[in-house]
Amino acid sequence: MAQRRINAILNHLAGSDDLNHEIDFNNPAERYTLKPNLTSAETASKHQLVLTDNKSGQKWNLPAPDTNTNGPVTPVQFIVLPKSKTTNSLTVLDNRTGKLYEIAIEDDTIPALKFKSMIGPNKEGIRVYDPAYQNTAVARSKITEIDGEAGVLRYRGYPIEELAEKSNYLEVSYLLIFGELPNKVQYERWSNEIMHHTYIHIRVMELMKSFNYDAHPMGMFISSISAMSTYHPEANPALAGNDMYKVSAAARTKQIVRLLGKVPTVAACCYRHRIGRPYNYPQSNLGYCENFLYMLDHLSEENYMPNAKLARALDVLFILHADHELNCSTAAMRHIGSTLVDPYSAVAGAASALYGPLHGGANEAVLRMLEEIGKPENVTEFLEQVKQRKRRLMGFGHRIYKNYDPRARIIRQVAYEVFEICGREPLIEVAIELERIALSDEYFIKRKLYPNVDFYSGLIYKSMGFPTDFFPVLFAIPRVSGWLAHWVESITNPAAKIWRPRQVYVGEGKRSYVPMEHRSIPEPGENDDNGFDMEIHYDLSKRSAAATYEGKYRKPELKA
Ligand code: CMC
Repeated sequence: MAQRRINAILNHLAGSDDLNHEIDFNNPAERYTLKPNLTSAETASKHQLVLTDNKSGQKWNLPAPDTNTNGPVTPVQFIVLPKSKTTNSLTVLDNRTGKLYEIAIEDDTIPALKFKSMIGPNKEGIRVYDPAYQNTAVARSKITEIDGEAGVLRYRGYPIEELAEKSNYLEVSYLLIFGELPNKVQYERWSNEIMHHTYIHIRVMELMKSFNYDAHPMGMFISSISAMSTYHPEANPALAGNDMYKVSAAARTKQIVRLLGKVPTVAACCYRHRIGRPYNYPQSNLGYCENFLYMLDHLSEENYMPNAKLARALDVLFILHADHELNCSTAAMRHIGSTLVDPYSAVAGAASALYGPLHGGANEAVLRMLEEIGKPENVTEFLEQVKQRKRRLMGFGHRIYKNYDPRARIIRQVAYEVFEICGREPLIEVAIELERIALSDEYFIKRKLYPNVDFYSGLIYKSMGFPTDFFPVLFAIPRVSGWLAHWVESITNPAAKIWRPRQVYVGEGKRSYVPMEHRSIPEPGENDDNGFDMEIHYDLSKRSAAATYEGKYRKPELKA
């Protein structure tokens, strides 16, 4: 009865006498007749609301909502919203214009473009402001599913725990890229192709030799992958056709096989360069991880075979690191790929994003942190500094996981398997104590901070004898398959467009150029923080500092 009455009032406001008329809110003509429906209401008695049409003065009595029945009689203002045809939508009222919009919800998302049509007084549509993409979906993907609250990770529907136990990295890379586990024939072809694309161009090797002896391996890795694009002109869209990767599955697969095959070789050369040993050539008869270990470690021994258990441990780590949906580096891969550039350049860009200490560089940072803490007795003091925001607990926290990172749980097990072969890494005691105290501390509990994949991986790598600065490279090698899976998915999407976010401009308005002679120079001690740091010091040797010289530029100050 109440609903019928409300309908009747709505119809009145819409200018219709037909009480049974269903207002079509998708019809702009009908929607706009509702414009004057700003109505005031007050609770007249315990069970009654009086609704007033402010335009005509006409009043209606309505049953009051339960919550109002015992309260004081207070005048309220409200707007009668049209009833939506679907419950899976948002009704948005733009208070600037009084216009109503209905936005469909699909897969718990709303299309941001809908807001573009909400034109305000400044004639601009609304933009969605989301720095650091904290709540923005930029792709529909079928590759990896994460339930951060439940601590669940699945590749193409397969739980990470099952894949880590039963699969191997090459099979997982096939699964990620092509969507299904390979059958026997497919797997043999796939692994055979990859293991026969492991040689890198001799000039890439020579380029790598030109790095400084102590170059960070990740810097070498990024530059060398990028350089690889110059050795495959037929893979360059600038030369072979802008749309080549959109239209040709063969062109895509060729570069995928090459990249997956060559990436361990590049990584191994980075390592050998760092320790001053000649580069080894790949052995295509070995498994993916065995070949990698061989290239890292073989000297002149005959029939050198890496330890099978260590190769398997590395393989499990590779499975765990292969993909993680739209993390920072994968978003970078999609972003760069959206320009249709070649995949070598895109992988180099994604690897650069991975290098940062908040992302894949965290495994290196964790180990340096554990070394600095030194022993379990120092953990409490370190965590105090974290709580005072003087330090960050590396290897803890995640944008998506608000529960234990399932990869960290598996990695902890693998750590003990590796320790059995290579010896227990003493810093594990510090890590365990850090985890124990942090997980029972209010600061970390409140913020849902748990160990992530990088917390224990560094300890395995350290126990296996890898130098600390090589850890991010060990993350990058397997992540290449995830990047490529996302590259394929995004580039083959017929609706794909170049990624081009918007900004909110908050800078100066239009102003006129001021000639240099009219610009002020701050007095000593006056605020001058809008230029570059004038106090930059130079590494002058004592002898150069003592020398005199003349020239256009003043002599830099000696570093304090
Ligand atoms: N140590 C101390 N406090 C932290 C940490 C941490 N590691 N991580 C988050 N917080 C605090 C943060 O200060 C903030 O507190 P408040 O709300 O009081 O300001 C709150 O937790 C939320 O953190 P956030 O920085 O807004 O979270 P985010 O989603 O922007 O950052 C993160 C995620 C991974 C960058 C961050 O947790 C972090 O810096 N962790 C350490 C670096 C790390 O281990 N990175 C590896 C991530 S997993 C591997 C990968 O895929 O890259």
